Amino acid sequence: MAMGRVLTVLAVVAIGAGAWYVFQCLEAPKAPKLNLEEWWGPNELKGKVDTSIRPFRVQFDQAMVQDLKTRLKNHRPFTPPLEGVGFEYGFNSKAIDPWVQYWADKYNFTAREKFLNQFPQFKTNIQGLDIHFIRVTPMVPQGVKVVPILLMHGWPGSVREFYEAIPLLTQQRAGYDFVFDVVVPSLPGYGFSDPAVRPGLAAPQAAVIFRNLMHRLGFTKYYIQGGDWGALIASSLSTLFPDEVLGHHTNMAVVQSGCNYVKLFVGSFIPSLVVDSHLVDRMYPLSNWVAYVLEEFGYFHLQATKPDTIGTALNDSPSGLLAYIVEKFSTWTRLEHRSRADGGLEFRFTKDQLIDNLMLYWSSKSITTSMRFYAENMSKKNLALRMDEIKTPVPTWALQAKNELFYQPPSFLRTKYTNLLNATVLEDGGHFFAFELPQLFADDVFKAVKAFREWHTKKAKTEL
Ligand SMILES: *[C@@H]1O[C@H](CO)[C@@H](O)[C@H](O)[C@H]1NC(C)=O
Ligand SMILES: *[C@@H]1O[C@H](CO)[C@@H](O)[C@H](O)[C@H]1NC(C)=O
Ligand SMILES: *[C@@H]1O[C@H](CO)[C@@H](O)[C@H](O)[C@H]1NC(C)=O
Repeated sequence: MAMGRVLTVLAVVAIGAGAWYVFQCLEAPKAPKLNLEEWWGPNELKGKVDTSIRPFRVQFDQAMVQDLKTRLKNHRPFTPPLEGVGFEYGFNSKAIDPWVQYWADKYNFTAREKFLNQFPQFKTNIQGLDIHFIRVTPMVPQGVKVVPILLMHGWPGSVREFYEAIPLLTQQRAGYDFVFDVVVPSLPGYGFSDPAVRPGLAAPQAAVIFRNLMHRLGFTKYYIQGGDWGALIASSLSTLFPDEVLGHHTNMAVVQSGCNYVKLFVGSFIPSLVVDSHLVDRMYPLSNWVAYVLEEFGYFHLQATKPDTIGTALNDSPSGLLAYIVEKFSTWTRLEHRSRADGGLEFRFTKDQLIDNLMLYWSSKSITTSMRFYAENMSKKNLALRMDEIKTPVPTWALQAKNELFYQPPSFLRTKYTNLLNATVLEDGGHFFAFELPQLFADDVFKAVKAFREWHTKKAKTEL
């Protein structure tokens, strides 16, 4: 082809991309009006459920524990791993035995049940589903304000991720005139929260359920925090209820809009256009990112398409569930631990901590319904809401750990969060941030909420 024609083609592509960029970035859709009473439970129970708030306790009953131990001990021999590999092919089967033995013989079910019941827990029926949550209200001296915060977990986590952080958030600290009233729900279909009985419950619908939970507890204005699916639900809450959410803290800040993909692509040629030089390696080269997604996101595609098939196996085999879930605590904490024979699992977590999390899936038989969340969120109907493109004025604060699955610079996040107050960039930490580094997590949440409160005070003053 002649040089002239190449240039013409390039010019047309550039103009086309430019026009598309302008169209995508300037034309923002409006927030949808979701049905705030949509019924997710069995139809015959409509209007007949008890909506009181009932105390709840985790119970590892003897029959369940006995059955679990029998299954753990009777597994068929694991297929030996290939020579010289770590976790590249998945959970290294040489590393499974100590975990399975620990779960069957050393994990103290009585003590762990007691541990899991250290905070007050409740269930209440919202839109046909019994929703489980932890609620810790601190006792404080006069002059200290107690402010509500909703903490949301994701997959394959649970409310367990927040156990170390809860006492830090409910304790007064120097330099702050407030402390948190903490509400930590299990996502619908996770742990002890009921699953929907029909399709359609994705992140925006979960946001409606949690908003209704906060109203049931008497909170019409509150702060929110989330990671993983919890981050997506927090994002939906900020988008759907900007007048209720006082501030939004996220440890997985991503805005997946066409506009940001264009910027990401442009940045692959000239990174300095989109990201500070010291953070370039969190985004580029793009080929690393593509390879990473292909190598590590098979589970996502599987769960977004056939959750019930894989769920049949995982719900039946505790060692299978262990391999499937615990593997994620290796690579999502440090990708480089993939090459270790033990997956580096005990780098920041103990066996008890990770098995507590497994118990919340096993004892409630919730693995299949937890994975369906992927299918719901990837449904055409949900994606058509274009939630990531809708702007929200809710003051937002991102905590960006070194080993989080994705990194986006503030300019990307501001396309949605017009009042992004700050992004804390850390050189440590991974995906399960609150679980891994509870002190840093609590410190950042306090800082963020202080900034949200100052922002509201200033705004009220300028509006007078
Ligand atoms: C398990 O924990 C319970 C309650 O904390 C304790 O009484 C018991 O001695 C423990 N069992 C073992 C085998 O350590
Ligand atoms: C989940 O769905 C929302 C639309 O409601 C979309 O914006 C978001 O990118 C989806 N996220 C994932 C991780 O699938
Ligand atoms: C905002 O984040 C930056 C970078 O992490 C940090 O240096 C700065 O102290 C933060 N600002 C506030 C008010 O915390």
